[in-house]
Amino acid sequence: MAVDIERRDAVAVITLNRQEALNAMSPEQLDALEERLREADTDPAVGAIVLTGAGPKAFCAGADIGHMREATPDEARAFARRGHDVADLIEHMDTPVVAAVNGYALGGGCEMALACDVRVCSDNARFSQPEITLGILPGWGGTQRLARATSLGFAKEMILTGRAAKADEALAKGLVNHVYTADELMDKAVELAASIARQPAWAAAAAKRMCNLALGGDKAEALAREVDTFALAFTTPDQREGMAAFLDKRTPNFSRG
Ligand code: CAA
Repeated sequence: MAVDIERRDAVAVITLNRQEALNAMSPEQLDALEERLREADTDPAVGAIVLTGAGPKAFCAGADIGHMREATPDEARAFARRGHDVADLIEHMDTPVVAAVNGYALGGGCEMALACDVRVCSDNARFSQPEITLGILPGWGGTQRLARATSLGFAKEMILTGRAAKADEALAKGLVNHVYTADELMDKAVELAASIARQPAWAAAAAKRMCNLALGGDKAEALAREVDTFALAFTTPDQREGMAAFLDKRTPNFSRG
């Protein structure tokens, strides 16, 4: 199986598993990733996902260069669209996704991590958008998401030079929230995902949607939508349960799914 899925209680761990190519993604790999993501997102018992890469070296070394080598512009466009489909799915699906970056996150690998809601990494992680060094440019959302996650100047430096950032620099720039040792990484990522999975599912999905509007787009429109969505939360049993539990000084019993 090129992309694995396993459950740890309410967390689904999805693992890119093509170690012989440092988990680089071919169209087949993208299809398999999409399938696993949809499987987890539609499972009412899953409250959060951790996305990671198999082996000690790489989260994902990018789009499959062998596949792209002889691509025509139309084929390259189709491959970029396919990568965008999967990155957009991660960003917009209801289930929050934590990227556990365990080594190289390069090109399309960095772009998939950027599409995740939260990123954590091991101290041996390396992030880069090296496409410029291949005569191309990021094609799975990196030109937009890297600047939004960090700053426009940092993103331009990375994309225009293709240089790699180590874990401590990624942390300083806001590209990741936490750095752990390689041994700690998965437990910490699953712990973080579990703390999201414990929250009421409707509110978590609505909050994710609203946070996605924080950068870019029309701010006034986003703020108006936040008001509407806030009001909508008051049609759910979880709102009543959550507030009652707070006032009763007890742990809330939220519905799942
Ligand atoms: N595509 C296809 N194969 C890849 C790959 C990729 N992106 N990255 C690594 N591999 C393969 C290598 O070809 C090699 O295969 P063989 O054993 O058959 O030769 C195997 O993985 C192991 O790689 P290395 O021997 O190179 O390992 P290393 O430790 O010496 O170097 C590395 C590791 C620095 C990550 C290096 O492999 C590398 O630079 N990889 C390419 C990274 C890259 O440029 N990624 C961007 C791709 S373009 C893109 O992603 C476009 C986009 O926006 C969608």
